[in-house]
Amino acid sequence: MPDPPVRICFVCLGNICRSPTAEALMRRRVEDAGLGHRVHVDSAGTGAWHVGDPPDGRAAAEGRSRGIALHGEARQFQHSDFERFDLVVAMDRQNQADLRRLARGGAGEGKIHLLRNFDPAAAEAGRLDVPDPYYGGDEGFARVFDLVDDACRGLLAALLEREPPWR
Ligand code: 4NP
Repeated sequence: MPDPPVRICFVCLGNICRSPTAEALMRRRVEDAGLGHRVHVDSAGTGAWHVGDPPDGRAAAEGRSRGIALHGEARQFQHSDFERFDLVVAMDRQNQADLRRLARGGAGEGKIHLLRNFDPAAAEAGRLDVPDPYYGGDEGFARVFDLVDDACRGLLAALLEREPPWR
């Protein structure tokens, strides 16, 4: 029997910029490592403003320039998602606080992680947030890709260090 795959949900505010970026970059890293069958990735937002929307055009354009396709329709993270996922990975500390509130002290709380804690250099420097690029320029989106890619590398390494089934 194969071990069940680890299921990861990346969470930002709108689910149109940062978390779809993390989903696409992590999927690429996982597939490049030959682990596509072992790690399932998804994303969601804590807010509902953009539910049903495609990824932000600026994030999609940055992805295209790097050969990374962003997919999906925005959805809002639900309390039931704490049961559907093993790791719930927040893009910034506000997302983390909102997720903790939603977990209401239940078992889901232990599944919440902050993405940049998986990047040792960022964590060491206390740079724990992936900055929200929505109201800024294109350079903010390039920066999000760089920061998220570094952290996804660390996240994959952390998964590989743990014994299956990675829970
Ligand atoms: P995201 O970016 O949380 O990275 O998807 C945002 C998208 C939309 C808004 C804020 C942030 N907004 O205020 O509509």
